[in-house]
Amino acid sequence: MGQARMKKSRSFPVNRSAVSPQDLPLVVLPKPGRDGGGTVMRALWKRRTVRELSERDLSLQMLSNLLWAACGVNRKKGPFGISGRTAASASNSQEIDLYAALQDGIYLYDPFEHTLAPVAAGDLRRLANNPGQAALSAHAPVQLIYVADVDKLAHTAGYQEPGLQNPDIQKSYYFVDTGLMAGNVSLFAASCGLASWFHNCNKPGLAEKLKLRADQRILFAQTVGYPSPKGKSKN
Ligand SMILES: Cc1cc2nc3c(=O)[nH]c(=O)nc-3n(C[C@H](O)[C@H](O)[C@H](O)COP(=O)(O)O)c2cc1C
Repeated sequence: MGQARMKKSRSFPVNRSAVSPQDLPLVVLPKPGRDGGGTVMRALWKRRTVRELSERDLSLQMLSNLLWAACGVNRKKGPFGISGRTAASASNSQEIDLYAALQDGIYLYDPFEHTLAPVAAGDLRRLANNPGQAALSAHAPVQLIYVADVDKLAHTAGYQEPGLQNPDIQKSYYFVDTGLMAGNVSLFAASCGLASWFHNCNKPGLAEKLKLRADQRILFAQTVGYPSPKGKSKN
């Protein structure tokens, strides 16, 4: 992340003509709220997959709350001397990186700074859809992309257990840890009247744009936004 780049808060999306990540700003998110939404019980009654979302933007505050709900820092001193997050992870390894594909580019969420750092420019949101469903809600405001960093498991700063070196066990951990984050997102969305949809994604297409290391794995994506009138009428 370029130190020289100016930190400034903004509502998004801003730069539709960006061609490289350098054209996009570091997004400093407002602090996550402490109130709002309904009760967990009400959210559980409302939770469902909604695949038809409108193009309506989220406010920057709503985006901030959404990302924090997914995997933000909720306590400075968590297990094994590392900060704690809203979603559990194996040995507190915190190995799932969360990317957000917005209208002007794909950003990496930094939960410690609570910022979004640009990674790829352009409207790449449809790459976060399953290729067979590429056009479905392709203009929904946010596509969250879950990427496992296996190195963070293998070299955890948390509890050292032998399973963290075993590829099968690593896999079980990073899929579970993704599910815990996605569960937070779907309950947060339900509590705020937002729609969410967890799904497969175009892994080769995203891999090319995200320029990942070999030990980073793109797993799933999750569309979040307001339900379209069609989506609202579905069960
Ligand atoms: C691991 C997983 C993968 C999924 N992949 C897709 C997908 O690629 N496309 C899609 O339309 N829905 C996908 N879904 C959504 C499920 O179809 C949906 O959650 C299920 O039908 C239950 O509906 P509900 O969420 O409304 O209870 C996926 C869900 C999960 C948990």
